[in-house]
Amino acid sequence: MKIKKIDAYEILDSRGTPTVATRVTLENDIEEFGFVPSGASTGSKEAVEKRDKAGSFNGKGVQGVITDAEKSFFPAFIGMEVENQLEIDRKIIELDGTENKAKVGANITLALSLATCKAAAAAKKKKLYSYINTLFNDCFNTNVQMKMPLPMMNILNGGAHANNGLDFQEFMIQPVGFSSFKKGLTCGVEVFNSLKETLDKKGFSTAVGDEGGFAPEINSPEEALNLISEAILSSGYKVEEEVTFALDCASTEIFDDESYIFSDKKKFSSDELINYLKELRKSYPITSIEDALDENDWQGWNNLTKEMGKETQLVGDDLFVTNKDIFQEGIQKNLANSILIKINQIGTLTETLETINLAKENNYKTVISHRSGETEDSFIADLAVGSGAGQIKTGAPSRSDRTSKYNRLLMIDSWENFEFLGRNELNK
Ligand code: PGA
Ligand code: ZN
Repeated sequence: MKIKKIDAYEILDSRGTPTVATRVTLENDIEEFGFVPSGASTGSKEAVEKRDKAGSFNGKGVQGVITDAEKSFFPAFIGMEVENQLEIDRKIIELDGTENKAKVGANITLALSLATCKAAAAAKKKKLYSYINTLFNDCFNTNVQMKMPLPMMNILNGGAHANNGLDFQEFMIQPVGFSSFKKGLTCGVEVFNSLKETLDKKGFSTAVGDEGGFAPEINSPEEALNLISEAILSSGYKVEEEVTFALDCASTEIFDDESYIFSDKKKFSSDELINYLKELRKSYPITSIEDALDENDWQGWNNLTKEMGKETQLVGDDLFVTNKDIFQEGIQKNLANSILIKINQIGTLTETLETINLAKENNYKTVISHRSGETEDSFIADLAVGSGAGQIKTGAPSRSDRTSKYNRLLMIDSWENFEFLGRNELNK
């Protein structure tokens, strides 16, 4: 089915910041939309969002960028076969011509790439996750099975996502001890609600941060993990056996080219930070740590992987920015053992799938992720299932921008009989 028309809209993300929605209309009048999220603690090598720089929304508007794309970028794709995702994404990359989508803007390229995929799935009358699965397997000549992802739920927010004293950005839980996605998610939701009561009883605010997790005025990781432990116990679940912890330190945000600086002015070298995390892991069942170190501290990452990589999932987010070439170099240098996958860090679906495939080929685990600025769109839920990624990180079960993904997964789970591996997902 051929593409008849492409247009785009300036819409709002969950922080009220403008973002792009692109509509692809096919010759049979099927239309689908691609929505683009936006990060706050971005890696320096991410594909870049293009904004108007002047005018409304303090220069963060995208209407001008959209008007330009409608005039001089989208027309190149009219008449193309919508099912040819690879060719369309190749053309996007070629017409942009930059390393980081700077000419057209990754917000434009991704919106088009995702709308293309959704329209093709609709034209083929296939569920989006199933279409993505076929796309993936055809593209890499492989046979990846669809499965339900283990959630990594950010229930306590700090760093760039909140204005409390917590330096680490995300305190997450993983419901590892359950036999189905639904049971695991239910546990996560109950712990989240129990955390609200725990915080309330202790006189802390229960206001939430950008990703729907609570953002109480606390200062140390230990305090955060103790509060969550208490919430797990009072909701009747077992710490470690059923629920484990995951951290996103987002350490690029606290690195000053030499040391890691915490808000109490304490300075850590990368060795000291590694030792601190090792100690923390002795006291709490932490199964996963993301961006433990700065994106450029590769020697530190190599040490970290040697020191902690056997027992702990070490996730590269700012470190790899979903970029196949950077990731390939990181694999060769033995950095981390897992990768966070964010579609807007790279700017097309095909490149995202290539990075997921590279991870699978090298036994790195994959965690499909939202951004702190999200939309109501649930594409990443289908991506997680369709690519058999294994894990998903999409915030707390609060705020519709987060629950839209969990809700989509609940529906997929009820329609299909896909496997859910729980803890075994981490032990592979
Ligand atoms: P961001 O944060 O979307 O604000 O970049 C998410 C993360 O660091 O994982
Ligand atoms: Zn991160």
